[in-house]
Amino acid sequence: MHGNAFLTSSIIINMSKSITFQVQPGGKLQGEARVPGDKSMSHRSIMLGSLAEGVTHVKGFLEAEDALATLQAFRDMGVEIEGPVNGELTIHGVGKHGLKAPKNDLYLGNSGTSMRLLSGLLAGQAFNSVLTGDKSLSGRPMKRVTEPLATMGADIKTTERGTAPLHITGRAGQLTGIDYAMPIASAQVKSCLLLAGMYAQGVTCVTEPAPTRDHTERMLAGFNYPVKQEGNKVSITAEGSLTAADIDVPSDISSAAFFLVGASIAPGSDLLLKHVGINPTRTGIIDILRLMGANIEVLNERTVGGEPVADLHVVYSPLKGIDIPEHLVPLAIDEFPVLFVAAACAEGQTRLTGAEELRVKESDRIQVMADGLQILGVDAQPTEDGMIIQSGPIGGGEVISHGDHRIAMSFSIAGLRADAPITIRDCENVNTSFPEFRDLATRLGLNLVCREEA
Ligand code: S3P
Repeated sequence: MHGNAFLTSSIIINMSKSITFQVQPGGKLQGEARVPGDKSMSHRSIMLGSLAEGVTHVKGFLEAEDALATLQAFRDMGVEIEGPVNGELTIHGVGKHGLKAPKNDLYLGNSGTSMRLLSGLLAGQAFNSVLTGDKSLSGRPMKRVTEPLATMGADIKTTERGTAPLHITGRAGQLTGIDYAMPIASAQVKSCLLLAGMYAQGVTCVTEPAPTRDHTERMLAGFNYPVKQEGNKVSITAEGSLTAADIDVPSDISSAAFFLVGASIAPGSDLLLKHVGINPTRTGIIDILRLMGANIEVLNERTVGGEPVADLHVVYSPLKGIDIPEHLVPLAIDEFPVLFVAAACAEGQTRLTGAEELRVKESDRIQVMADGLQILGVDAQPTEDGMIIQSGPIGGGEVISHGDHRIAMSFSIAGLRADAPITIRDCENVNTSFPEFRDLATRLGLNLVCREEA
């Protein structure tokens, strides 16, 4: 591929080049699609499949950089994993105590989930390890995991700022369970402590201030590992082993979200998104869009491998601004960049509060989205813990994604209602969660091209 060439391949792989998206204004989304596999479940399938006794087959695995970083980390710890081929993997589990010391640092790219979950899992191993990541991941807070892990007896060194690299001294047999009330609603922190609890003496109990995604708990149960859930408390002990299981990963509702919003804001849209995971800890996007007046039908509900799945039918409907209920924030935590675009198209004012966590995601999603929307002429006022957005026309212009996949895709969707072209710089990271985005969005009706620059 040469500088400035327009990409035709479905997966953009050259990370040394910078990718720019250009969206022509207007259009509508129509047709049927199956978006790629759920990122959270894909990470967990590798982790638990590796620790299981026996062979685990995974279908629907997300072949994108974040989940592939987890896969590589387990290969580096001696696990034989075949694939992925068309989303299928075969993991030859090594058992709970079968991981081997990695020869090098484990590089986790952009993936916060990999780093935070692995920190808990590796704290109780019989070997030392070092976890590193890219620039964005190296700036993200890790004390939220290292502090509670330290009270369990873990030995993990961070930088002075509490960031990666994480230097983990394995303390096999020396961790002790804790009873931890999480100060923030975080599935990554909860999952990290549960994984550490599988190696700790006594009971590890985590209480969440609000429900967060429970894929770790569900998948542990699917692997026959005992986990106890009582209200907002989940507890685990070291008594148990994992039995290999087949996993069918549904489509990621966080990737479907771009099209749910796109079809809701673009007149004439009518879209069917197939086989989407609708775990109730993830469906805040549907609830919020419906409160705004969206027309979304949940069809053909079924359970696949312990997770609820459905087809989502979305038809254009004029939206109205709302105050987003705070209890829905953790249930839609990754969807706010694109919900801000919906808000710009919704009559009146939309106000988000209680979402300060957005400031420490792959980018500061409050500031970066407010800056970009303002460039496009939208009245978007950032606040400490959210944003206030007035409806208004979306203009054209050039925005930056700050290396954040969800920002890049959200501004692409804004093009459906823009009145001039939008250029989005720094879109390489779309590959972390949704390498097929450009091709799929184009097939469904978005007029988007990619430009690669040296
Ligand atoms: C994730 C949990 C969430 C979410 C992230 C994936 C997970 O993070 O934002 O994209 O897989 O557990 P927090 O736990 O930091 O809210």
